[in-house]
Amino acid sequence: MPINVLFAATPERWATYEPALRRAFGGAGLNVYLAQEIPADDVDYIVYAPNSELQDFTPYTRTKAVLNLWAGVEAIVGNTTLTQPLARMVDPGMTRSMTEWVTGHVLRHHLGMDRHILDQSGDWTPVVPPLAEERRVCVLGLGELGTSVARTLQSLRFSVSGWSRSPKDVAGINTFHGDAGLDDALRQAEILVLLLPDTPATHNTLDARRLALMPRGAFVINPGRGPLIDDDALLAALDSGQIAHATLDVFRVEPLPADHPYWAHPRVTVTPHIAAETRAKTASEVIAENIRRGEAGEPFLYLVDRSLGY
Ligand code: NAP
Ligand code: GLV
Repeated sequence: MPINVLFAATPERWATYEPALRRAFGGAGLNVYLAQEIPADDVDYIVYAPNSELQDFTPYTRTKAVLNLWAGVEAIVGNTTLTQPLARMVDPGMTRSMTEWVTGHVLRHHLGMDRHILDQSGDWTPVVPPLAEERRVCVLGLGELGTSVARTLQSLRFSVSGWSRSPKDVAGINTFHGDAGLDDALRQAEILVLLLPDTPATHNTLDARRLALMPRGAFVINPGRGPLIDDDALLAALDSGQIAHATLDVFRVEPLPADHPYWAHPRVTVTPHIAAETRAKTASEVIAENIRRGEAGEPFLYLVDRSLGY
């Protein structure tokens, strides 16, 4: 009997994921029937994107796990019809993408690249950038993505600190945790990267009081989620010069409305949620491994802790 796997994402994703999933299932030696429509009570696993039409999991009585295609689970974790195990996406391709995106934006601000990219008017005033070791970068969130980002920046010799909910020991990184730890981490954040999940506990992590703790003229880079930042407080901090520039990939409302002040602000860079898309090839291999585990009676990888919301 094949394992029935329902693909529940927006329909345009099928063309990319169908061949990648079939290849990964074959590679894992799994006999899978994969389709976009399967009678609910025949479904063994659901490959899921929270923006799909499937929102009521009640009829999926024999489903062993829901395997999320996204790292962020805020749009599914509170769904009370979902009683099956929920795994979030940890995808090596996504991790590399996030690491490259953040590193690029950190280097942009660290080196002051805008000065020469935006002004070719003939001004020959040398402003020599500091070395990376003289620049303090702080990463909020030391999970799959934050740890990879922190390690890569540290390998470039940035002075890196990080903050997480639980204590962490990451070689070469100055780690903080808890509320008091956050204040200490922010005091040394000349470049701040937010890679926290969107949970009730992380909303407005960067508010007016905490923005004021950062060194004057600091940079904010947010590829985490929009609600991590109090937008009004950030705009005020940009206007006062407390924050020199904000590079924002994620927003409370996406797409970011055309009349949002971020679009027009001279010291804000908006990118359209492209920091780290799930990559079909590597993500399909992770999904296949989780189904193999489910069939072998082994624990699933990357299960979401619903009480924490991530
Ligand atoms: P993860 O592995 O679950 O890591 C989350 C980190 O945040 C952990 O270090 C966790 O602490 C920390 N954290 C959670 N709640 C906290 C709290 N209340 N106080 C302090 N620290 C807290 O997640 P990930 O895979 O790195 O992904 C992080 C987020 O990136 C995702 O949730 C998603 O929102 C975002 N993302 C964005 C894109 C994009 O394209 N822009 C792509 C992928 C993901 P512990 O280690 O102590 O648990
Ligand atoms: C993207 O933002 C994701 O959560 O995977």
